[in-house]
Amino acid sequence: MKKAIVLGASSGIGHEVARLFIAQGWVVGVAARRIDKLTDLQNLAPERVFTAQIDVTDEAAEASLQQLIERMGGLDLYFHAAGIGWQNPSLEAEKELKTMETNAVGFTRLVGCAYRYFANNGGGHIACITSIAGTKGLGPAPAYSASKAMQNTYLQALEQLAISKHHNIHFTDIRPGFVDTPLLAGSSRLPMLMTTEKVARSILKAVNCRRHVCVIDTRWAVLTFLWRLIPNWIWRRMKLC
Ligand SMILES: NC(=O)c1ccc[n+]([C@@H]2O[C@H](COP(=O)([O-])OP(=O)(O)OC[C@H]3O[C@@H](n4cnc5c(N)ncnc54)[C@H](OP(=O)(O)O)[C@@H]3O)[C@@H](O)[C@H]2O)c1
Repeated sequence: MKKAIVLGASSGIGHEVARLFIAQGWVVGVAARRIDKLTDLQNLAPERVFTAQIDVTDEAAEASLQQLIERMGGLDLYFHAAGIGWQNPSLEAEKELKTMETNAVGFTRLVGCAYRYFANNGGGHIACITSIAGTKGLGPAPAYSASKAMQNTYLQALEQLAISKHHNIHFTDIRPGFVDTPLLAGSSRLPMLMTTEKVARSILKAVNCRRHVCVIDTRWAVLTFLWRLIPNWIWRRMKLC
């Protein structure tokens, strides 16, 4: 039986991905701050689903992840879904800093912990939900788009490091467009909105095929390809909010 940990499994995409891993017979560790929201997942297969309360912004999170791996008797796949984000056109400092703490510092803490575990234990697979928002700096969501670009670059760097050190660690950078989850609650008029079920199925496929980068879905892949072609002198004048 394969073993996976989903960090950020209490809601949205991570919750659905964890549910699919459980349905496929994996041993699954599910973690988030709201441990009560993990009970339904544990009830699906109590003998092979392990829960843990982990806050990625807490310095103790690395030790908590290591303990969860020990309780599970090892790990094949670390799946990072934990993240927050807001539209913040008024640039409220608290929102910007909290986003960086979670999506940049917390991400580095937990993905780094998984990397070190795999490097010392014969290898493994690290898959992370980043976003298409990392493609360009987005005026309405500065910290969110910048933190997602950081995640994209960090994963690329780790992949190069792992290859150069012969660490046998695979990486999948998953970049969805808009998904109907609590993260987008309150946002209006979102184009090309996808369901968590559809996105989770695409994620499972990408993980099983060991894709390096996976934009979900094709429409968003085309859109981000075109975005990238927009020269900066035009992009900086575009009004997105
Ligand atoms: N929804 C979209 O349109 C969209 C698009 C592209 C990428 N994404 C990315 O997908 C990921 C999942 O988001 P979602 O849309 O599924 O949102 P969501 O339903 O709000 O889920 C976010 C998950 O992250 C966890 N989390 C947040 N802060 C945490 C912390 N400090 N420590 C541990 N866990 C934490 C939450 O659990 P607790 O609150 O219980 O801790 C929750 O399980 C995020 O990285 C997001 O940026 C989302």
